[in-house]
Amino acid sequence: MAETFSETRLPAAKTERYRAVAEEIVAVLEGEPNLTARMATVASMLAQAFDRFFWCGFYAVDPAKGDELVVGPYQGTLGCLRIAFGRGVCGAAAAERRTVIVPDVEAFPGHIACDARSRSEIVVPVFGPDGGLIAVLDVDAVEVAAFDETDAAGLEAIVRATFGRA
Ligand code: SME
Repeated sequence: MAETFSETRLPAAKTERYRAVAEEIVAVLEGEPNLTARMATVASMLAQAFDRFFWCGFYAVDPAKGDELVVGPYQGTLGCLRIAFGRGVCGAAAAERRTVIVPDVEAFPGHIACDARSRSEIVVPVFGPDGGLIAVLDVDAVEVAAFDETDAAGLEAIVRATFGRA
């Protein structure tokens, strides 16, 4: 149950923590088809589970444009509203349909600084049940090199379980 979700009861090791959070997310979202509710729940539970997630949330593919992302549910400071495919880290992940890990955003050409405190980030593509790109999940940290392949695997598993083919 969401109201009993507590960061303090999750395993300390990162891989196990991702697995435990994934199970909690699946349990909370059981039977809820609304996409906004699903994205908001994932953003909230991830932000609670990982202290170093300074900004955590979704940019959804705008159905009216096709090649532009529009901000969705998130936790953190004010995010930019729209990002064109190919622009910044989110736009690169959307255009290339792959996870992008940026250890130092200042060294990433075209990085969009919504909040200057963000120093590293990971962006994971989100595919819907039919395999099409529906959004990206963006997580930022104030530390340099906060994300690695374990974060990629953990976040990819969560978005697959939450938004992919059942
Ligand atoms: N840093 C991102 C933009 C989104 S925010 O940081 C919330 C990027 O370059 O894609």
